[in-house]
Amino acid sequence: MRNGNSARMPRTLLGIESSCDDTAAAVVRGRSVLSSVVAGQGGLHAAYGGVVPEIAARAHAETLDDVVRRALAEAGCGLADLDGVAVTAGPGLIGGVLAGVMTAKAIAAGTGLPLVGVNHLAGHALTPRLTDDLGYPYLMLLVSGGHCQFLVVHGPDAFDRLGGTIDDAPGEAFDKVARLLGLPQPGGPSVEAAARGGDPARFAFPRPLLDRPGCDLSFSGLKTAVLRERDRLVAAQRGLWRQDRADLCAGFQIAVRDVLAEKARRAIAIYLGSRPSAPALAVAGGVAANGPLRAALFSVADAAGLAFCAPPLALCTDNAAMIAYAGGELMALGRRDALDLAARPRWPLDTGAAPMLGHGRRGAKA
Ligand code: KG4
Ligand code: ZN
Repeated sequence: MRNGNSARMPRTLLGIESSCDDTAAAVVRGRSVLSSVVAGQGGLHAAYGGVVPEIAARAHAETLDDVVRRALAEAGCGLADLDGVAVTAGPGLIGGVLAGVMTAKAIAAGTGLPLVGVNHLAGHALTPRLTDDLGYPYLMLLVSGGHCQFLVVHGPDAFDRLGGTIDDAPGEAFDKVARLLGLPQPGGPSVEAAARGGDPARFAFPRPLLDRPGCDLSFSGLKTAVLRERDRLVAAQRGLWRQDRADLCAGFQIAVRDVLAEKARRAIAIYLGSRPSAPALAVAGGVAANGPLRAALFSVADAAGLAFCAPPLALCTDNAAMIAYAGGELMALGRRDALDLAARPRWPLDTGAAPMLGHGRRGAKA
């Protein structure tokens, strides 16, 4: 599954990412991650129940210089050792994206290094090439707190979107369910942990959109179904027992797993129609850490004869190494941006596909 164009990749790139609530910088040489610094903002938004765009933007602006300095120091590089600067230019919370783009432009203007703006989703989607050298075209499932879509990845700027969420992203749903049940944030790991002692069959949660053809997904009804069961239990017994929480979490998690697995089956059928030479399914995004989901996706891929690729979690969640790597692939195709590079709140990867509806607290989903 080797793809032999690495010889044309620019050698060493600085990547910058600031589209949500992580300020990140990384240095990547070819397929080697020399450094990857991620500074989270968790504490700053904790009191508000979600990422507050203005607070995020200010924190990015204050932190970026230091994060870039740390990434260069950890890589043992100076600016003179770089061959280019890649920066997330969208989609995302616009104030944060702007802070990153301004920083990248300042470095490019001061050093004369070439600059390239990278789509954040392309960064996620190209990660399996950085980590596993996957050959094009491969099928990709992005599942995080902000994204959920199936993509066929043909090249660093060539994507077919087969479907995506029409409302919440799955991570957002995990976070909301955790909040409903008084479990700590981020919700994914705490719901998964609580679900371990639970009975997934006790509550009959819906499997949204399975009755409709295609690969689109919906998670907001599922979250509301959990809320309804919680309220019913609280009204009936004046509170929730530990077992109730475990059963609610297990039922919710299995519903998310079932929906994603069935939609993955459908996406695989469409993808195989194009007769890829080395078929593969890759996942990225924080929700890809979920054990039952990973196991289900592995089985679905395996049954259809696809290789399964799940990059290490640190490169699945938001980071700048994926941006540096994607920038390298784009530069290898001759892409450069001028100093008037714009920050874009929305930037669909597949401009031929219908726009998605979802636009949650963590920013645009396409
Ligand atoms: O990719 P990510 O770090 O950030 C963005 O959303 O961009 O993903 C974070 C999301 C959160 O919503 C978190 O609850 C979810 O990923 N998550 C999980 C698990 N670990 C993290 N969801 C389900 N199961 C997990 N084990
Ligand atoms: Zn992301």
